[in-house]
Amino acid sequence: MDTPNLNSGQHMSERFARANVVIERCRRLALVSDIQGETTRTFLSPAMRMCMHAVQSWMEAAGMSVTTDAAGNLRGLYPGRTSDAPRLLIGSHLDTVPNAGAFDGVLGVMLGLALIESLNQERLSFAIELIGFSEEEGVRFKLPFIGSRALVGRFDPSLLSSEDSTGISLKLAIEAFGLDPDKLGNAILHANSVAYLEFHIEQGIVLESRDLSLGVVDGVAGQTRGEMRFLGHANHAGTTPMSLRRDAMSAAAQWICELEQRASSKKDLMATVGRIQAFPGAGNVIAGEVLASLDIRHPDDGIRREFVNETIASADSIAMRRGLKSNWKMQLEQPAVRMDARLTELTSCAIAKSGIAPLRMISGAGHDAMIVAERLPAAMIFVRSPGGISHHPDETVREEDIENALTAGLVFLKELQGHPPISTAENRT
Ligand code: GLV
Ligand code: MN
Ligand code: MN
Repeated sequence: MDTPNLNSGQHMSERFARANVVIERCRRLALVSDIQGETTRTFLSPAMRMCMHAVQSWMEAAGMSVTTDAAGNLRGLYPGRTSDAPRLLIGSHLDTVPNAGAFDGVLGVMLGLALIESLNQERLSFAIELIGFSEEEGVRFKLPFIGSRALVGRFDPSLLSSEDSTGISLKLAIEAFGLDPDKLGNAILHANSVAYLEFHIEQGIVLESRDLSLGVVDGVAGQTRGEMRFLGHANHAGTTPMSLRRDAMSAAAQWICELEQRASSKKDLMATVGRIQAFPGAGNVIAGEVLASLDIRHPDDGIRREFVNETIASADSIAMRRGLKSNWKMQLEQPAVRMDARLTELTSCAIAKSGIAPLRMISGAGHDAMIVAERLPAAMIFVRSPGGISHHPDETVREEDIENALTAGLVFLKELQGHPPISTAENRT
């Protein structure tokens, strides 16, 4: 039997002490959930309040002054050497998908926090604003990126009337959280903001398949999200002949299978129906109505839009052949985004200088960075996702990769002091 090497174990745990704090915090926050026994933390829920409370106390202990803006984003400011110092924004999201893992979003906030803690109160030539975005996934109101859209001043107030599955409007949810929906302007980034950095798990297998720790994101694929409605006629399951049915469930099933087939033949195209609701929703009633979510992604906006149009046409033709109606409700049309070339190069150099080979890559997953990039030079660092597993409780990270991300992040902060980005948010509007 092998004798365990306790000394080397101790050495390893010391080496990864900072990383383990980050991982431990992510795992602790994963227990803060709307649903007991899993990680589900939606926009402005009671669990989100508890999560923000914990993160706020860590931020304050690290010397940040913390506020919550009207969109529910948690914002900690670590001052620079002067009160008018430019601001580097570091952020990611605190909300999760249903039954999530512990690292999607939260890791980016915890890594930013650990970087600030590593500064040990040292002041830099720029301030750092650490942002825990309130809503990126779009679970509660089917509206992704509420937090980052508010930050860049792109939150459309007409969305305040959107309702969650219990009929609570977005406006009411903001008020019930103790925030003021008429003050969404206070979420807009400070005019001194100069750059945005987001750490995130890769959520894919590219880094793992090359045995690499960190990646640098060149661009993020565009996405269309919406809801397709099939309207047929509810009727008795035992008496309605198969030939006389107007079954919304069968129409939706056919549409979903055709979608999968068409998407599989197009390179880099991802198409997903992740949620369906059938009405009236009883086993012995033919479904009269079905709502199906649709999520389509591609790095090329032209290809994505064409595919979306084909998908809408396919629903129309299936519905027509079956004597049903279909209609499409667009919820998000987010073009693909390139990260800032100069900041991305600086990020890549910082990773290389910390002794790690950075892999440049395109992200299929959406991120707050793609919204913030409209207003600020933005860059993203990906951390390897073991097994490529994400949006699942088995999502995990390796401690050495977290340690590498921290080391690279500190080099990035040092490099940024030497190469400040040219423009502030004020002159990029
Ligand atoms: C965010 O997780 C996304 O859906 O890409
Ligand atoms: Mn996610
Ligand atoms: Mn995410």
